[in-house]
Amino acid sequence: MNYQHDVLIIGGGAAGLSLALRIADQCTVAIITKGPSKEGSTYYAQGGVSAVLSDQDSFESHIEDSLKAGAGLAREETVRFAVEHGPENIRWLQELGVPFSRDTFKGGKRELHLTREGGHTHRRVVHAADATGKAMSDTLENHARQHPNITFFEHHIAVDLITTEKQCLDEEENTCIGAYVLNKHSKHVETFAASYVVLATGGASKVYLYTSNPDGSTGDGIAMAWRAGCSVSNLEFNQFHPTCLYHPDAKSFLISEAVRGEGGRLLLPDGKPFMQRFDERGELAPRDIVARAIDHEMKRLGLPCVYLDISHRSAAFIASHFPTIHKRCLQFGIDMTREPIPVVPAAHYTCGGINTDLHGRTDIRNLYAIGETAHTGLHGANRMASNSLLECLVFAQSAAGDITARLDKPQRHYTISQWDESRVTDSDEDVVISHNWDELRRFMWDYVGIVRTNKRLERAMHRASLLQTEIDDYYSNFRITSDLIELRNLTLVAELIIRSAMLRKESRGLHFSLDYPWADDSSEAKDTVLKPEHKSTREKIKIIK
Ligand code: FAD
Ligand code: SIN
Repeated sequence: MNYQHDVLIIGGGAAGLSLALRIADQCTVAIITKGPSKEGSTYYAQGGVSAVLSDQDSFESHIEDSLKAGAGLAREETVRFAVEHGPENIRWLQELGVPFSRDTFKGGKRELHLTREGGHTHRRVVHAADATGKAMSDTLENHARQHPNITFFEHHIAVDLITTEKQCLDEEENTCIGAYVLNKHSKHVETFAASYVVLATGGASKVYLYTSNPDGSTGDGIAMAWRAGCSVSNLEFNQFHPTCLYHPDAKSFLISEAVRGEGGRLLLPDGKPFMQRFDERGELAPRDIVARAIDHEMKRLGLPCVYLDISHRSAAFIASHFPTIHKRCLQFGIDMTREPIPVVPAAHYTCGGINTDLHGRTDIRNLYAIGETAHTGLHGANRMASNSLLECLVFAQSAAGDITARLDKPQRHYTISQWDESRVTDSDEDVVISHNWDELRRFMWDYVGIVRTNKRLERAMHRASLLQTEIDDYYSNFRITSDLIELRNLTLVAELIIRSAMLRKESRGLHFSLDYPWADDSSEAKDTVLKPEHKSTREKIKIIK
């Protein structure tokens, strides 16, 4: 099957959906998602979106807090851009009908309730109780589904980007012209041609054994962009959320930072608080500090978890502010209105990603990247809570402006080679995929986790290289499946993470090494930028010439 659209958006989270809605009046748009449309991180976001909306707050304060959390690597121009476009994006969401929580009466009007999270010196997190992502996703998707110019292709997983260079087409500058996409129902690879392609594929936290993310966070966009020839930055900065529910049956369930924002305390099993020993901001220190403090206490005392206690607040307050968390904990026999919640840190957010400018443009012409897959410079070495949804919205808006301004230019249509399946067979060894998947995530957790050393990174690199060779070989010989595509991408991203971590000879933000325990302040902090050596030749090309 061949498709042709003006804009192909790979990903239907906050970034992809916002962009689609902002351009669809002017062009045809395809949104592809590899599972059901809701299955991205956006749907599970709890805490909220940061934006300056209170009289007591200011842009300067939000900028200062973000720069401070970013530990010398957040780019001031990007931070200012995101912060200053925050309020108008919240208004846009309100106009679309996102049911944000309201609270105080001001001049007879109910104002938005603003909560607090780590690193923020003011209340500036807009939220829909503790299910902000669901509220945003539902609203954005309902609008997108009704738009005549937007077509959804669910259960379609992009395999690789199509560029003029890979197709050996005569074009001065390498240009993205579409993507090969596996239709998970028909099991065939289809060609999606487009004048502009947008990667909105989310992060890569699934590379770790324990994560707050849904299964699809496998870094597909980063891997596809890298294979196509894009540079990536700062992939060593993997954010571990301090508080995921610790229970054998609770897969990936987050206990929002807003629980600490509203007074929750972190406790050891004997009921003693410990955060003040690590940072004077206590429970509201930025995430890297809180996650490391928990990790330290768990290792020091041999604990399986620590505890988060908000039971001093009234049951009515807890049930109205945290209905989702309250209900979910009750399902596991934990009543947070009366007792502390057992929690552990888990991989949560990929701060690095595909390099982009303020309009989401990548190194390849007509290829954009927005949302968690991108590296805009907003987060630096550590993302501040609720700045991610803000980034999704702001960069969707700016990329939309850039794309629509270019739509009038005459677009060339190319003849694209079809995907070739003639030289591959069905695998009878699927165990290779499940085994390698488990091995990858475990060694990444053990060797490239919250605390790193040179030796651990070397071990991890050795294993990642072996896996890469094995998976490349498998990929060349067998018919592709969704699991294989994700494993191939995740292994590549793991290698990029390890390479980036090895290059950083200091501890900064989310990257902490026992061999270099201090930040190197002898010169200005630098991004870790990786560039593909042979551009698109890294890819095993499976197309008919
Ligand atoms: P996602 O929402 O992850 O969407 C990715 C999309 O890409 C999906 O539709 C997926 O199907 C698609 N996709 C991926 N690969 C392919 C492929 N190969 N082919 C086709 N489709 C593909 N941030 C905040 O700012 N505030 C919060 O309160 C907050 N809470 C969070 C709570 C949880 C539990 C988690 C996991 C994250 C939270 N975050 C929060 C982070 C934030 O939710 C994410 O960074 C953000 O939602 C990412 O949005 P996105 O649009 O970039 O990607
Ligand atoms: C949370 O609710 O703790 C998640 C917020 C975020 O990741 O920004």
